[in-house]
Amino acid sequence: MKTVVVGAGAMGTFIAARLFMSGHEVWLLEVNDKRVTKIKEKGICLEENDDINNLKFSTITSDPKEIGVADAVIIMVKAFDTEDAVKLVLPAISEGTIVLTLQNGMGNIELIRKYISKERVMAGTTSHGALLIHDGHVRHTGVGDTIIGALSADSEKHTGKLKALFDASGINTSISDDANSLLWGKLLINMSINPLTAIMRIKNGRIVELPHLVEIIKQMLVESLEVATKIGVNIPYDNPLEKIIKVCRNTSQNCSSMFQDILAGRRTEINQINGAIVTYGLQCGIETPVNKMLTELVMSIEQIRPVL
Ligand code: PAF
Repeated sequence: MKTVVVGAGAMGTFIAARLFMSGHEVWLLEVNDKRVTKIKEKGICLEENDDINNLKFSTITSDPKEIGVADAVIIMVKAFDTEDAVKLVLPAISEGTIVLTLQNGMGNIELIRKYISKERVMAGTTSHGALLIHDGHVRHTGVGDTIIGALSADSEKHTGKLKALFDASGINTSISDDANSLLWGKLLINMSINPLTAIMRIKNGRIVELPHLVEIIKQMLVESLEVATKIGVNIPYDNPLEKIIKVCRNTSQNCSSMFQDILAGRRTEINQINGAIVTYGLQCGIETPVNKMLTELVMSIEQIRPVL
């Protein structure tokens, strides 16, 4: 299955490396020319536990025409770059190409669907942890669940193909019949872990050792679950707080993606994560002060980063 991974950040590089190791034709599409040149020349280095895999990976480009038509496209860019990424990859997409988003945050599906018909768009979540040491060098920092779902019933055959692709590369994947529920499940995890780790500058595991942070998560959950109920979302966990704590423990050594962004002086996905809950809350008349405050704090940290 010829696959294009769009975005050679931590998770994009990790997925491309795993697919490559399982013998698939995989391309990385990346707009950062420095990153393209580096990976073309040096390949990908994937660190996992004590193994270091130096892969002769050279199928990376910033020009989608070089790729030709793909069977599958996996969008792995930051949520604020989704629309640009979809427009860029269009030359590699034909009637038969399936498009999967495994990104954090909300709004990605809507942006992809502006260009690709519903039956070819799949959405999913992964809680694997990955850290980009430098361009082309990624460390796999935590094993997590990967779940994908179709947006329409007639595209369920496609989720089976993607599951087979991921399973063969050791990214064990399951299929859900409710993609929206999946995304909300991941949103609750990201809205808790990401801003708190970014503001406090701590690894995921520290959250559960600090009772005041757990208290903030509880308050965030109250308002977020109220919004979810009002808009009719089915949350995939019986006990969301327990699930969040479990993810903190399973990824205890991870620096969350938002903490990594803050450390690197990059823009974060706060608007697509906690900011999304604030927006949904406004639309359905529910106040979300805790999510709003965390959004504003992270946005303020982004603004002061030059003087840190
Ligand atoms: O964004 C992240 O870092 C990840 O989605 C997660 C699951 C919070 C683990 O660090």
